[in-house]
Amino acid sequence: MKQLIKDIDILQPEEAQACEVKISKEEDTGKGRKFYIESYGCQMNFSDSEIVTSILKEEGFDTTSDFTQADLILLNTCSIREKAEQTVRNRLKAFNEIKEEKPAITIGILGCMAERLKEKLLEEEKIVDLVAGPDAYRDMPRLVNEAQGGEKAVNTFLSREETYADISPIRLNSNGVTAFISIMRGCDNMCTFCVVPFTRGRERSRDPKSIVREAQELFDKGYREVTLLGQNVDSYKWSPNEDLKGKAQIEKSGETDITSFAQLLEMVAKVHPDLRVRFSTSHPMDMTDDVLYAMAKYENICEYIHLPVQSGNTRVLEKMNRGYTREEYMERVDAIKRIVGDECGISADVIAGFCTETEEEHQDTISLMEEVKFDFSYMFHYSERPGTPAAKKFEDDVPLADKKRRLNEIISLQKEHGLFRNQQRVGKTYKVLIEGNSRRSDEQWMGRNSANIVVVFDKPEGSKVGEYYEVKVTDCTGATLIGEAI
Ligand code: SAH
Ligand code: SF4
Ligand code: F3S
Repeated sequence: MKQLIKDIDILQPEEAQACEVKISKEEDTGKGRKFYIESYGCQMNFSDSEIVTSILKEEGFDTTSDFTQADLILLNTCSIREKAEQTVRNRLKAFNEIKEEKPAITIGILGCMAERLKEKLLEEEKIVDLVAGPDAYRDMPRLVNEAQGGEKAVNTFLSREETYADISPIRLNSNGVTAFISIMRGCDNMCTFCVVPFTRGRERSRDPKSIVREAQELFDKGYREVTLLGQNVDSYKWSPNEDLKGKAQIEKSGETDITSFAQLLEMVAKVHPDLRVRFSTSHPMDMTDDVLYAMAKYENICEYIHLPVQSGNTRVLEKMNRGYTREEYMERVDAIKRIVGDECGISADVIAGFCTETEEEHQDTISLMEEVKFDFSYMFHYSERPGTPAAKKFEDDVPLADKKRRLNEIISLQKEHGLFRNQQRVGKTYKVLIEGNSRRSDEQWMGRNSANIVVVFDKPEGSKVGEYYEVKVTDCTGATLIGEAI
């Protein structure tokens, strides 16, 4: 555990998303068997761990935050970049050391790396006892029993219809105020650099009724913000016709009775005006004006869009198979400003040094960033993933030193822009939802404004977590607004 905390502490901010770790908490209801779950990767993975927890609790397990006390250790893993997989491998080593002392422990791997490597970690490397891909979590009770009986427990079947719609996630690491709701699974895009279509399978949307029900239940429990999750939320499509499995079939069928993402957003916004609604990730190719109009219409749909750009150069975007040009991306940014307004927060993902990217093309990314001035970005250098179209077709020909230098240029520019954007907010007043104590002081609250910017302010007397306050911004850093409640 100490090692892990150390690893988290030394993470660079720009890698935080890639390596963020979530750990199950302690809950002892005397069930006798305990499991520990550690999750890496994106919010969808964290959300899946809550589904797995729900399934295992039904099976008579309690959660623990101390893996040395667990009968079952689970790692929910990410394959997005090589570094993410390396982190998981190091953790597996640590867990196997515990297993040498306590052979009865079962070690399981879940998520994207499980899907990518299938039985390899179990049969060849012999460092896990159980392998379950992202669509196999309903099978966990059987897999656990098989593994504990000494059999090979592997299920990496990818489904066209599984959405876990009926399973109520058990919230892990919850602040009781903000929660994630998965609205779809998989991805039908084929960005050439990306492993997700291979690890998560075909795109399918979840029944909107079950999404609204989950949002209502969260609101009733005191939650005040939900984030709707999908790899490409703008491509959400649901048809009540049960014969249509997944987005591809719905599109082919010509079916007209379809719920779109903009409609879903409205349905969730109507749950309660005090329930904030966020969503992630938007795709520049699919984000419609309807979504932006829904944001403008409902005060509780937050004015914040995560709109990954990846590159500012059209040739590189085409090679990435992103489906938009630089100009089309900029047109979407203009639409956000026109329909939602200037206060809308915009963040991005950026990849430096994709195959064949020239210095000039890298400068196009820099100039696009200058034009937009993102509030915030997740920035990476390209990491070739086995089996992806880019790995098969293109040479990973930008030297690592160049990738790193380009990335550093992108990171320092983003830091300037974050500060610039926040400085423009000084003197303004924002509605802030209190999420918890600020990291620096128990005398201060931490919350966010609608644009997803962290706001820190002194606690007014009698104020509580989960309440809204109007906060006037008096100062800022590149990542935080400092203010006072009015
Ligand atoms: N569905 C989202 C992205 C999910 S992956 C979208 O379409 O934007 C999150 C981010 O990881 C991506 O936006 C990309 O910036 C980065 N990423 C994905 N594959 C990568 C790779 N092979 N090397 C480096 N970064 C990668
Ligand atoms: Fe990957 Fe592209 Fe799908 Fe995002 S949209 S998950 S980057 S394939
Ligand atoms: Fe990683 Fe899988 Fe998410 S590869 S980013 S955990 S979908």
